[in-house]
Amino acid sequence: MKRVPLPPGFLWGAATSAHQTEGGNESSDWWVLETMPSSFCEEPSGRAVDSFHRWREDMDLAAAAGLRDYRFSIEWARIEPTCGSFCDKALAHYRQMIEGALQRGLRPLVTLHHFTCPAWFSGGGGWAAPDAPAAFARYVRRVAGILHGVEHVGTINEPNVVAAFPKLIADGPDVLAHGLPEPDEPTAKGLVSAHRQARDILHALLPDTRVGWSVSVQDYQPMPGAERVAAAYVHPRQTRFLLESRSDDWVGVQTYTRIRLGVDGETARPAAPEPAALRTQTGWEYYPAALGGAIRTAAEVVGDVPVIVTENGIATSDDNQRIDYTRGALAALAATLAEGIDVRGYFHWSLLDNYEWGTWNPTFGLIAVDRDNFARSPKPSLAWLGAVGSTGFLPAQE
Ligand code: BGC
Repeated sequence: MKRVPLPPGFLWGAATSAHQTEGGNESSDWWVLETMPSSFCEEPSGRAVDSFHRWREDMDLAAAAGLRDYRFSIEWARIEPTCGSFCDKALAHYRQMIEGALQRGLRPLVTLHHFTCPAWFSGGGGWAAPDAPAAFARYVRRVAGILHGVEHVGTINEPNVVAAFPKLIADGPDVLAHGLPEPDEPTAKGLVSAHRQARDILHALLPDTRVGWSVSVQDYQPMPGAERVAAAYVHPRQTRFLLESRSDDWVGVQTYTRIRLGVDGETARPAAPEPAALRTQTGWEYYPAALGGAIRTAAEVVGDVPVIVTENGIATSDDNQRIDYTRGALAALAATLAEGIDVRGYFHWSLLDNYEWGTWNPTFGLIAVDRDNFARSPKPSLAWLGAVGSTGFLPAQE
């Protein structure tokens, strides 16, 4: 296949989230979860990688490597640490980050909610509470005041995963061995309504901003004969959230691996790929081509709505493997562009090694961080990704 050029304006960057990098997110529900005596988290986030204070250095490294875009999130728990009282200092902090990114030539893609909520919000019933969408809308209205100049805003990160949180928290992360639990319906409804309200508020207040949300889109591969069962399995976990994106300006696709489904549905989520299949630090099958499958899946549901890959990456201690994986994923993305799918950007997960929701073990970063002194050490993959962007072409399939 011929090399595919990067379309004009294509977003080319890396992503992080606030809780996983900032440190000291004390007013959040995850802080409570991490520090309770019966916590399912192996380790707390603590000072994380101190990006709350070191974001300038993080952005400098990204920009110096040639990245042009940076996806980061704003922490609701810092902005509204107690119900109804907003912290101007926190808002000013995130405004500085937005300006800091723009000054460095990094276009910010800002996520308003990446898994964590203020503890008061979750304590009051979380997304399932009847007034949850209104509470989120109130926060979004405040945040809109600092978002001028931001072209892309994501309301909620992986609502399909967030909707599974009630079950995950009740049963512990081991349930994931049997697949993503079916979303909790009241939580899913709250998220959908919150997203719609947030989108309308942002459109009204910031007419130039393009709004979407990022869905965890698995490359689900049904075994022969399992197609109908697979569709029924996938609909509540993924399709229904993608359908919401039909009314958005873009849809975020986040993919790491493939998942094969058998005729007996949920229980048949293949516990293992082929015995010889390579697995990453998170136990996921090493399967770079998953990105192509996920982009096609999303495009089939959302039609003409542009796709932005807002997360893709690999947990590995071997940076050459990270480069190989990313090359394969980008070649798969190139194939979808060649097929005519409107893909507008790629954000690698993650800019930094960071807190992986209960553990520090998986390393997804393009930059390593010494957790004692927070020194940053860019890995070769960072320069590699920046250099690919500056060639103006995506890698070709080998
Ligand atoms: C999340 C990230 C997470 C990554 C790797 C995505 O589900 O948005 O926060 O670190 O996957 O597990």
